[in-house]
Parts: sequence; structure tokens; C-alpha cells
Amino acid sequence: MLKKKNEYVVAVVGATGAVGSEMIATLERRNFPVGKLRLFASERSEGKELEFHGKAVKVEVLKEDVFAGIDIALFSAGGERSKTFAPHAARAGCVVIDNSAQWRMDPEVPLVVPEVNPHDLKWHKGIIANPNCSTIQMVVVLKPLHDAAKIKRVVVTTFQSVSGTGMKAMEELATQTAEVLNMKPVTLKVYPHQIAFNCLPQIDVFLPNGYTKEEMKMINETTKIMGDDTIRVTATTVRVPVFRCHSESLNIETEKEIAPNEVREVLAGAPGIVVFDAPEKSVYPLAIDVAGKDDTYVGRIRKDESIDCGINMWIVADNLLKGAALNAVQIAEKLVEMA
Ligand SMILES: NC(=O)c1ccc[n+]([C@@H]2O[C@H](COP(=O)([O-])OP(=O)(O)OC[C@H]3O[C@@H](n4cnc5c(N)ncnc54)[C@H](OP(=O)(O)O)[C@@H]3O)[C@@H](O)[C@H]2O)c1
Repeated sequence: MLKKKNEYVVAVVGATGAVGSEMIATLERRNFPVGKLRLFASERSEGKELEFHGKAVKVEVLKEDVFAGIDIALFSAGGERSKTFAPHAARAGCVVIDNSAQWRMDPEVPLVVPEVNPHDLKWHKGIIANPNCSTIQMVVVLKPLHDAAKIKRVVVTTFQSVSGTGMKAMEELATQTAEVLNMKPVTLKVYPHQIAFNCLPQIDVFLPNGYTKEEMKMINETTKIMGDDTIRVTATTVRVPVFRCHSESLNIETEKEIAPNEVREVLAGAPGIVVFDAPEKSVYPLAIDVAGKDDTYVGRIRKDESIDCGINMWIVADNLLKGAALNAVQIAEKLVEMA
């Protein structure tokens, strides 16, 4: 458990990455009580300097024995690093908030979205998992609807940006876009097919059941976070040539009938959500508008006329913020509140 202090020693592991750099910016922007910030990455980044509150902080190489004296470590350096180093950090008395998929389904590790299940933070044993980016924005919206009308089933299709794969994928989209516009052959490094001007119905690897790992993460993580394994979820996840923000089409079947206006009211009163829904004026959430925002934006709310109790909607959130860095910092803020 985190001890009450005025200021904390905070580490960002994977500090030079797409998520790590947003973690540093989010800690600064939200004025998290950081006494000292330690930054870790691979040997490639040793000595590099990153700015925090106007001061340069040197990047150190991640090693097993670096965690003594660190109160909170935000990990986003990939599953392998989390598997190897998070237990060392926890043994050194540090609370780890891990962004990788490594610990998410471990029954000993809480999987937390502060708007949904902050109570699960009480039973952590040193490691807390941050859910998958597409799952986070979806459960923020599902929770208030589940409380209002009990969700039976969710059919989700995602339109996920390339920043969800990291810095190299953002470079790949930029490079391929220039190559296509200049009529040059495209260079493939990160994705199995061209991502520029294309949609890829594959995120992560395929599993024997025909789903991708990303799709199964959305299915399994949702019931763990919501604490209700009666909710049935099916997912199709698609990578699209967008730099930032994941968009999702949600079809939700409820036990109790809930009208679109009631859905708008329930969601407008829920934490972390902005209802942005005036289709007659072509107003609905767009990735380019939601980039850099903290909330999950919801629009296109309408009745599913093919079933008795169904609602369709379109939700957009910044995958690097609510889908990763912000959710991790919000978990840290809750821990401080609970200390
Ligand atoms: N992008 C998202 O939307 C998102 C959302 C949720 C969760 N995540 C998770 O967050 C993690 C990082 O994602 P990202 O998108 O930020 O990736 P990224 O841009 O590729 O950054 C990876 C980071 O990990 C560091 N790293 C790599 N190998 C390392 C090693 N051997 N030792 C120490 N540090 C090492 C890199 O340091 P160097 O610069 O030195 O190589 C870099 O700081 C992944 O587990 C990912 O699944 C990402």
C-alpha cells in the first residue's frame, strides 16, 4: 500500500515511448505531487534528457535494482519488461501501475478504470494493471448504462489509430502516406500490410478461435473490470490510418428498455464522459477533435430498431491519454487519495 506523503518519488518506465512521454506530460499537467521523477528506458536512450516542469531529467537504463526508494512506477515499456521488472519493483516496496497486457488477467492483480472499479485498488499486492486502450473507453461508457438498465450483450467494432502500436507505427503511417502520394513503393516495417489509405482487420496476432488477441482482450477485460461475467461481449478490432484516438461503434442490448434521451441523460451525468450528439448539425465525436482531450466522447446515440432493448452509439477517446497515460495517472491519484 502507498504510504501518505506530501510528495512521491515517481518513475516512468518506457519514458521515451508514445505512452511514456504522455505519462510525463500528464503528471505535469495534473500537478501530481512528484518530489522526484526518475525516467527509465533501454540502453538506446541512456543519457537522453526529457523535460519535466521546465527541468531536464536524464533517462536511466532499466535494471532490476533501480527501484529502491521509488514510491510509484508507471510502466509502459512492453509486456516482457513488465514481466521481468514489475515483480522486482513491487518487492522493493514500489507500487507498479502497468500498461502492458502482462498482468491484466492475473486474478491476484486488480485491473482498474477509476470511473468504474476504484474499489478494486484496495486489494492490490504491489502491481495494478491498466486495461487495454480500447477496453478503457468502452467500459467508461458501459458502467453507467449497466447501472441504469443492466447490459446483456455488447457488439463492438473498433477503428484504432496507429499511435496504439507506438512511435514506430506513427512513423510508418507518415512514411507510407508520402510514398503513396509520390507514387513510390511502400515500405512495410510494423504492420503486415500497407496502413496508409487502408484498414487492417487485424490487431495483434490471431488465436485458434479466429479472433485476434486484441479482440479477446476487449472481451475478457470488460467482465473483469465490470465485475460481472454475465455481460456477453463480441469484438472486431480494426487498425485505421489515423494518428491518434480510437473510435468505436457500440451496439448494446440491455435487460431494461432505455430510450436514447435517457441514455444521453445518464451518460451526461457520468464521470469522464462528454455527450457530443447533434446529428442534425453533423455534430458527433471525431478523432481529430478528441486528440489531446481527457474525456470519452459519445455521439450517434440511437435505438437499435432490430431488437426490443438495444442502443447504438459512436464513442471516441484519446488512446494515449484515457487509453493509457491518463488512466494510469488517475489510478495513482486514487492511491494518493486512499493513502
Ligand atoms: N500506445 C498505446 O495507445 C498504448 C495503450 C495502452 C497500453 N500500451 C502499452 O504500453 C507499452 C508501450 O507502448 P508505446 O506505444 O509507448 O510503445 P513505444 O512508443 O514503442 O515505446 C516503448 C518504450 O519502451 C522502452 N523499451 C523498449 N525496450 C526496452 C528495454 N529492453 N528496456 C527498457 N525499456 C525498453 C522504449 O525505450 P527506447 O526508446 O530506449 O527504445 C520506449 O520508451 C506497451 O506495453 C503497450 O502495449 C500502449
